[in-house]
Amino acid sequence: MNKDNRVVKRESFQSSFGLIAAAIGSAVGLGNIWRFPYMVGVNGGAAFLIVYLFFVVIIGIPIMLGEFIIGREAKKDAVGSYKTLAPKEKWYISGILGVLAAFLILAFYSVVGGWTLEYLFSAILNKFQGQSVAQIGEGFSAFISDPIRPVFWQLVIMLITTYIVANGVEDGIEKYSKVLMPLLLIIVVILDIRAVTLTGGGAGLEFLFKPDFSKLKAQGILDALGHSFFSLSLGMGIMVTYGSYMKEKENLGATALKVGIADTVVALLAGIAIFPAVFAFGISPDEGAGLVFVTLPNVFLQMPGGYIFSILFFALLFLATLTSTISILEAVTAYVIEKFNMERKKAAIRTAILITLLGIIASLSNGPLSHRLIRGMNLFDFLDYLTANYFLTMSALISSIFIGWRLDKKIIEKQLTNDGRLQIRYIRLLSFILKFIAPIAIIIVFLTGIGIIKL
Ligand code: PHE
Repeated sequence: MNKDNRVVKRESFQSSFGLIAAAIGSAVGLGNIWRFPYMVGVNGGAAFLIVYLFFVVIIGIPIMLGEFIIGREAKKDAVGSYKTLAPKEKWYISGILGVLAAFLILAFYSVVGGWTLEYLFSAILNKFQGQSVAQIGEGFSAFISDPIRPVFWQLVIMLITTYIVANGVEDGIEKYSKVLMPLLLIIVVILDIRAVTLTGGGAGLEFLFKPDFSKLKAQGILDALGHSFFSLSLGMGIMVTYGSYMKEKENLGATALKVGIADTVVALLAGIAIFPAVFAFGISPDEGAGLVFVTLPNVFLQMPGGYIFSILFFALLFLATLTSTISILEAVTAYVIEKFNMERKKAAIRTAILITLLGIIASLSNGPLSHRLIRGMNLFDFLDYLTANYFLTMSALISSIFIGWRLDKKIIEKQLTNDGRLQIRYIRLLSFILKFIAPIAIIIVFLTGIGIIKL
């Protein structure tokens, strides 16, 4: 195989820690720190959180494990893996939906990634100093509706991501993120401490942890399901691809569990940092996509060393974003390489250009193009909604049916037990979940969420 081929990379996860770090690097990102609090906020708080956690445990982690199994058995990318395991059948549609989702997700995800860079520079320039809560909010709206600045930062993040994917230097990034991601976690914990001790912050903890199920609508339940896939990087073939890199001695179940736990812990810690502050500063929890960007600068202003912490936080958030954007672009690039037999650099650059063009329109839809609505949403919100709730959900549904009904039980057993070397007690439970629970739950939640079934 030539140097451009991913098989080279397929052998490159030397340590299990490196592998888990890469999977966690993909999972932990803006999904946890930006999208999770914003979803909790628009869906009324704790009830959403409980449903979300439920989905992570009974659907998300089992499907992640399923994606690992497919990947390590087939040793191919998202689409190729299905074609290898079930030649001449149409299961690979799951992979195609995933690649399409990856394409659309990166278009708006890179916009938000750009926001983190703007905020990093604002933090360095100490721009928030002396601003009121209202001014910080207005500053955010003015920034995202600007025709130039968000697009500029988006180009920066796309350039860095493309450079890394084109040159295949992910391993270097992994090395850094192994050190830097724990640091991000420490900063979020410090933010938590500051947030929960703010006067009036208690109401935020109540919002986050005391469920009121009357606030949760069918749409919110679908949001919770879609977000569980989004946050765990499922339904895009990313975990299939990572599974294909895993060594035979790796314990797949333990890995899926670790990634799931790490991802959930980061989201919860982000929620604990945000909601007490939201209530203490009188910000509206259903603010939407701006929630984190409007809330956190206020928290930094209220803490000793806030200047330094704000810089560190946005720098690390940017890196967490980068480990996710890399995995998303990688998913599309890998497909393009194989499908069109294209060289890696060319494939990465061309894919990135198309994504960036769509991304620019998405960014402008927060400003000059905000009057152009699709089903009542601007393009930015529409891409966000469509990908998580439709694409990822459908792709995950197909993969769960594939593993539950089509894949040979012996393969599942072989992959889970590492060919009999591990004692695994949950094989039947996992099969049962992927065969019945996950598909039925996904179908019901999906049909209810889009209003076809009324409960
Ligand atoms: N899981 C990433 C996050 O939470 C985003 C992502 C979604 C990455 C889908 C890959 C696939 O930020």
